[in-house]
Amino acid sequence: MTGTPPGSPWGGRFTEPTDRDARAFTASLPFDYRLWPFDLQGSEAWARALAKGGGLSETELDTLLRGLAEVRDELERGAFPFRLELEDIHMNIERRLTEKVGAVGGKLHTGRSRNDQIALDMRLWLRVEIDAIRAALRDVQAALIEQAERHRDSPMPGYTHLQRAQPILLAHHLLAYVFMLQRDRERYADARRRLDVLPLGAGALAGTTAPVDRHALARDLAFRAPSANSVDAVSDRDFALEFLADSAILAMHLSRLGEEIVLWATAEFGFVELPDAYATGSSIMPQKKNPDIAELIRGKTGRVYGDLVRLLTVMKGLPLAYHSDMQEDKEAFFDAADTVRGCLGILAPFLRALRFRVDRVRRLAGESYSTATDLADYLVDRGLPFRQAHEVVGKAVRLALSRGVALAELPLEDLREMSPLFGPDFRQAVTIETSLAARNVYGGTGPQAVAHQLGEARTLLNTP
Ligand code: ARG
Repeated sequence: MTGTPPGSPWGGRFTEPTDRDARAFTASLPFDYRLWPFDLQGSEAWARALAKGGGLSETELDTLLRGLAEVRDELERGAFPFRLELEDIHMNIERRLTEKVGAVGGKLHTGRSRNDQIALDMRLWLRVEIDAIRAALRDVQAALIEQAERHRDSPMPGYTHLQRAQPILLAHHLLAYVFMLQRDRERYADARRRLDVLPLGAGALAGTTAPVDRHALARDLAFRAPSANSVDAVSDRDFALEFLADSAILAMHLSRLGEEIVLWATAEFGFVELPDAYATGSSIMPQKKNPDIAELIRGKTGRVYGDLVRLLTVMKGLPLAYHSDMQEDKEAFFDAADTVRGCLGILAPFLRALRFRVDRVRRLAGESYSTATDLADYLVDRGLPFRQAHEVVGKAVRLALSRGVALAELPLEDLREMSPLFGPDFRQAVTIETSLAARNVYGGTGPQAVAHQLGEARTLLNTP
C-alpha cells in the first residue's frame, strides 16, 4: 500500500502511485463529467435492484440513496469536488458517496463494472438528447411551414444544375426541407428504439454475480429490455455510431439549406433579406451584411462528419469486449450532439426572421424561358409528339434569344412558320400561372397540390 494515491480504486494490486502525467492522460473526467445525472440515475436503480435481490439491507439502501441524493445536490449546486486523480465520473461519484456515508458506500459497486456502467450512462444520456434533438427538428419544420404558408402563392424559379428550370411555388421549395427533415426525425426515433436496451448487469463482460433481476431493472430504468448478451453489451457502441451517422445526414441536410440561404442572400440572387439580428457586418467593408449563421451551419457539417469517422475508426478492429480505446467515443458523441443542437436551435428563429423579396423572386421565375416546357406541352396537347415539340420550341427559344424578347413576345406568324399548331392562345400557355396550374399532380407544385401538401406537412408536426 506504500505509494498508492489516496483513494485509488485499485490500490490493492499496486505498490507504486500512478505517474501524474499518466493519470492525466488516462482520465476521462474532463469530458465524461457531464454524464453525472445519468450516472446517479443508474446508481440509484442499481442500489434498488441489489436491495430487492437481498444484496443490500433496507437500511443500507436508504443510506446509499440518501448519500446519492447529497451527491446530486452538490453536483446541482456546482459544489461537487471533482478530482482528476479519480479518473472518471463514475469513481468521482462513488468516492464522494463513501465520504458521505462511510464504508457502506463501497457496496454500491457490488457486481457492477465501469464497463456496463458507462454503456448505461451513455444510453441514458442519448435517450434524452435524441428527444431534445427531435423536438428541435420539429421546431425547424414548424418554422419552414410558417414560411411556406406565407408564400403559398409566391412563384420562384426552380433550378436544376443551378440553372433556372421551371417555375415552382416558393412554398413547394420550402416544404421539400420539411419532408427531408422528417426523415431525420424518423431516423433518430429508429435509433432511439434500438438503443433502448439495458446493458447494466453485464458486469465487466461475463454477467453480474449480484442477485439482480435484470428484467425488473430494465423496467425501473424504462428500458424496453435487458441486453441479451453481456459481451455484446459492453463491446457495443453501435448506438453511438447510429446517432453519429444520423447526425451526419442531418448536418448534410442543414448544410444544403445553409448553402441555399447563402446564395439567396447574394446580390446576384437577391431572394432574401437577411434579418439584422441574425447577420453580421464586416470589420472593413461598411456596406457588408454577411450570412454567417448559414455559413456556419454549412461549415459545422465538417465537425459532425469528423465525429462519425472518428468513432468508426476507434471501433474498427477492436476485439471483444471492452477496451480503453472506447473511452475515445465520448468527445465525438458529445460534440456531434452539441453541434446539431446548436444548429437547429439557431436555425428555427433565423428561418422565421428571413424575409423573401417576393416581387423580385416572382419576376425571376418568369425569366430565362422557364416556361418553354409548357409551350412544348401546348403543342403536345395539339397532337405533336413530345420530341418534335421539344425541337420546335427549342427553335422558338433561339429566335426569342436572338431578338432579346420573351416567348410571349414572339409574333404568332413566326411561330406558325415553325409549326402550324400554334394558335393565338399560345401566350396563355407560357404564363407562370398556367405552368403552375398544370402541375396539380399529387406531390407537384400546382397551387392545389401545394395546399394539400401543406396539410400533410402540418400533420407531420403532430406525429410524435
Ligand atoms: N472512463 C471509461 C470510459 O469512458 C469508463 C469505463 C472504464 N472501464 C475500465 N475498465 N477502464 O469508457
